Amino acid sequence: MRKKLIAGNWKMNNDVEESLKLIKSLLTSELNEDVDVLICPAFTSLYPVIHELKNSSIKVGAQNMHFEDKGAFTGEVSPSMLKSLGVEYVIIGHSERRQHFGETDKIINKKIKACLKHGLKPILCVGESLEQREAGIEKETVRAQLIKDLDGVTDGLKIVVAYEPIWAIGTGKTATSHQANEMSSYIRAVLADIFTVDIADNILIQYGGSVKASNAKEIMEQSHIDGALVGGASLIADEFIKIINY
Ligand code: 13P
Repeated sequence: MRKKLIAGNWKMNNDVEESLKLIKSLLTSELNEDVDVLICPAFTSLYPVIHELKNSSIKVGAQNMHFEDKGAFTGEVSPSMLKSLGVEYVIIGHSERRQHFGETDKIINKKIKACLKHGLKPILCVGESLEQREAGIEKETVRAQLIKDLDGVTDGLKIVVAYEPIWAIGTGKTATSHQANEMSSYIRAVLADIFTVDIADNILIQYGGSVKASNAKEIMEQSHIDGALVGGASLIADEFIKIINY
């Protein structure tokens, strides 16, 4: 049985004060116990947020990391640094990182392996652009990402996959629940090829892209969708709480 995972990817938003305010709103609200809740703040808010959540079931993740353990990589943060803070998940290969920071599938593959080596759970983001969908190559695009990003990865049960069509991120345009479920079902079939059917059946597949309170229920009810990776709506306490309590 796959337990749903609803994650807030705060992206480059919220200073420490704003982060703690949002966390306090979550802590003082009744949250759906059938769902695991995950918050992914900016690096600068990780420590205070983890401290604030230490007696709560809300989990904390990072939005990125380097694949090396340590060394001369100015400005980077290593997996062991995140692990020592109490971080549990790391978003890897978000389309914004692929697009603006030149992350290739090769780099993403190294990051996934580094996460697993350090006992961190990667949330691997995959998804096609509008041009790729319009050209009818969305499935092969996502398949190629999964195959390259998971090359040589053996611990399938420790990963989460987030299907985030680029054209639905921050645009207000959501994939229809049918489109999202169809792709998630396809992703599960590819994961079965990469790992085994049993492992693929137990991997969480999230949907991300303009998830909000008004569409969360329909998305979450799809048979192959096991949660959401929420951007903009996770910055508004009431909206995110409604998504969790869909
Ligand atoms: P939005 O929910 O703002 O569309 O962002 C989705 C996303 O990129 C989550 O990682």
